[in-house]
Amino acid sequence: MLSAADNEMLTRTGPQTPMGQYMRHFWQPIALSRELPEADGAPLRVNIMGEELVAFRNAKGVVGLADSKCPHRGASLYFGRNEDCAIRCVFHGWKFDMEGKPVELPNVPDDSGYYKSIRLRTYPTREFGEIVWAWLGPDGSEPDKLPGVPQLEFGLVPASHRYVTKKLQECNWAQSIEGALDTAHFSFLHMPAPHMPSNENPDAPADEKRLRWIRDDPRPQFSVLEHDVGFVVGGARRADGEDRYWRTTQFALPAHSTTPSTLPGENHFGYTWVPIDDHNCWIYTYAWNPVRPLTDDERAKFKAGHGVIAEVDDKFMPLSNRANEYRIDRALQKHSTFTGVRGVAEQDAMIQDSQGRIVDRTIEHLTASDAAIVRFRRLVLEGAKALVTGTRPEAALRHESYRLRSGSWIGHEGVPFEQVMLERFGNRVGRIGPVEAEQLSDGVAEPK
Ligand code: FES
Ligand SMILES: [Fe+2]
Repeated sequence: MLSAADNEMLTRTGPQTPMGQYMRHFWQPIALSRELPEADGAPLRVNIMGEELVAFRNAKGVVGLADSKCPHRGASLYFGRNEDCAIRCVFHGWKFDMEGKPVELPNVPDDSGYYKSIRLRTYPTREFGEIVWAWLGPDGSEPDKLPGVPQLEFGLVPASHRYVTKKLQECNWAQSIEGALDTAHFSFLHMPAPHMPSNENPDAPADEKRLRWIRDDPRPQFSVLEHDVGFVVGGARRADGEDRYWRTTQFALPAHSTTPSTLPGENHFGYTWVPIDDHNCWIYTYAWNPVRPLTDDERAKFKAGHGVIAEVDDKFMPLSNRANEYRIDRALQKHSTFTGVRGVAEQDAMIQDSQGRIVDRTIEHLTASDAAIVRFRRLVLEGAKALVTGTRPEAALRHESYRLRSGSWIGHEGVPFEQVMLERFGNRVGRIGPVEAEQLSDGVAEPK
């Protein structure tokens, strides 16, 4: 349970809020690179943390990001012209370069002080992992001094090894992350109907054993290991004999996570949440394989919606959504699956949205399986409160620490979480080393 004041602080990310300020001290995804496909192409609307911005790819291929409101009289630059590495308002022709300096103000005299005094707010951008990232925080006028973009592993592998997309989630960012960190829910939300065998699960792409272990033990024992950019949480369930089935999940500040099911050799999945406003967020979702290209078959499946990747339209709106009640099929719920909603991503979206646009955390009753949620709230609230008193988040400076993996492992009963992580990843918190990352970025990680 949280106090009403802490719930407000956790969930509100507008420019003047403590959490909004905190989030702006980290690089934020603002678009998929393919949403800005061509140099000098159409500008793109960007709504992020309550602000309306406009992105455009200039003639040199660099992405500009600016306040959408023209400083003259507030017309939207989304309708503007992308010309000569600058954006021009089509109302009276004011034109601004990538740094926001006016280059032409046709309806003011040439010697006007406006050329010196007026600035369009612009933000530095980078592209990494087929995503355009922007820096909305302080020091944006000195882009060379900014920290690096978080080196999440999907962005380090060759393009052939990854699939990157996003989807709209129609609720507050924080409760959606909490849904991902709470891996205990898999015993219910993503399962077949109670009378159905666990291997007859049309939604969950895992083998019968794993599904049986998950279903048969709804009270996983959780352990948390903190690291310098967040924490990794492990949930251990009873498996066959004296074995324990571990599912581990990464959380990295301020809003990244990786999924728990991956066994060695299988594809990894992760997400980054970006608030659009306090009632909606984007979930950037990525699949990657560190050692081989994704197959055409896998790509086709991801495109059609598969596992944690939702089926979306060309604007990244999930086809199952609030308006159509996630296409719930009550007959399916009675006879076949636990929810009657098709798809793991769709089941997650349905249940997170159902908590309300912003869940009231003052009336909840947490239990031991909510350990990761408690840790998430504490970390981001502590960070936001520290920033209010002048302490900037150190995790934002540690971009190399974001090379994190999570996944599944089967360990003997009594083996502690740290040992499980060492056995599974060769590192106590699931971090891959610079050498390995170097190989990935060179594209030479394929097995010989
Ligand atoms: S409002 Fe943009 S130039 Fe007048
Ligand atoms: Fe889920």
